[in-house]
Amino acid sequence: MNNLSDLDTLTGQLGTVALVPTMGALHEGHLSLIRSAVANCDKVVVSIFVNPTQFAPGEDFERYPRTLDDDIKAARAVGATHIYAPSIEEIYPSYPDLEALRDSSGQPVDMQLVFGTLTARWEGELRPGHFEGVVAVVKRLFDLVQPDYAYFGEKDYQQLRIIENMVQQLKLPVKIVRCETVRDENGLALSSRNRYLSEAEYATALKIPLVLTAAAAASEAGQNFASTLDSDIRVDYLVAVDGQTLEPLEKGYDSADIRILFAGYVGTTRLIDNVAVSCT
Ligand code: PAJ
Repeated sequence: MNNLSDLDTLTGQLGTVALVPTMGALHEGHLSLIRSAVANCDKVVVSIFVNPTQFAPGEDFERYPRTLDDDIKAARAVGATHIYAPSIEEIYPSYPDLEALRDSSGQPVDMQLVFGTLTARWEGELRPGHFEGVVAVVKRLFDLVQPDYAYFGEKDYQQLRIIENMVQQLKLPVKIVRCETVRDENGLALSSRNRYLSEAEYATALKIPLVLTAAAAASEAGQNFASTLDSDIRVDYLVAVDGQTLEPLEKGYDSADIRILFAGYVGTTRLIDNVAVSCT
């Protein structure tokens, strides 16, 4: 499906509609979202759109992997009923004038949302404009597809919280469904960017889930954890945060909902990951 007339006939009939937004280069992480949607909804729309507004100049927008034919086959094989791979102009009618989408503070012009602590730190601080781009495209996809449910991975935990918050602020009639992070056999969180890693870098990257698990265990035992990542990983952050507000938890965490967030570079590849701390 590549045009909206299919969507028009889709909405309002034949039961529940799920949307699984992706940027393509589908791997088992994406497919797990699609499988959950297929198990729970009547129609499952998988959108495939490499969103230019969420990449800063100098990031990997141009070289981001584009594998549309394989993606369509993979999504269909796990039961997606509709593939929506729009053009840039369909998503952003003002294209190529993407700046027209933002006001002087970088906010999308059509919605003045206030995300407070959710966008202030971590990816929001290190990738200025990133979440504004994510919010703009997800809002647009929601408008176009009008799903009853939308599936997002915990792998991108800050993104997930921001989308949940956007839905709350705008009172959108869509339920956000959280899906657990899918990891490879060695524990590395699946990511389209893992393919940039050399063999040696991959071996280095495996320290990330180990450190996160150790940090979660330390937090569960009520201890602070110190970063033990080697110098071959340039850490942007490794921090315990409140799972709702994403504010850092400094000492004697007493939050009932704790996440350990990581971001950093292995070589030139930037990876993010996170784990929940189970509080008993
Ligand atoms: P993308 O990185 O393609 O991810 C699409 C969805 O798959 C997101 O909800 C992400 O959290 C989820 N995902 C990725 N890797 C995963 C893994 N290992 N386990 C579980 N889920 C995983 O995130 C985006 O695209 C974009 O920002 C988007 C929301 C599509 C807006 O452009």
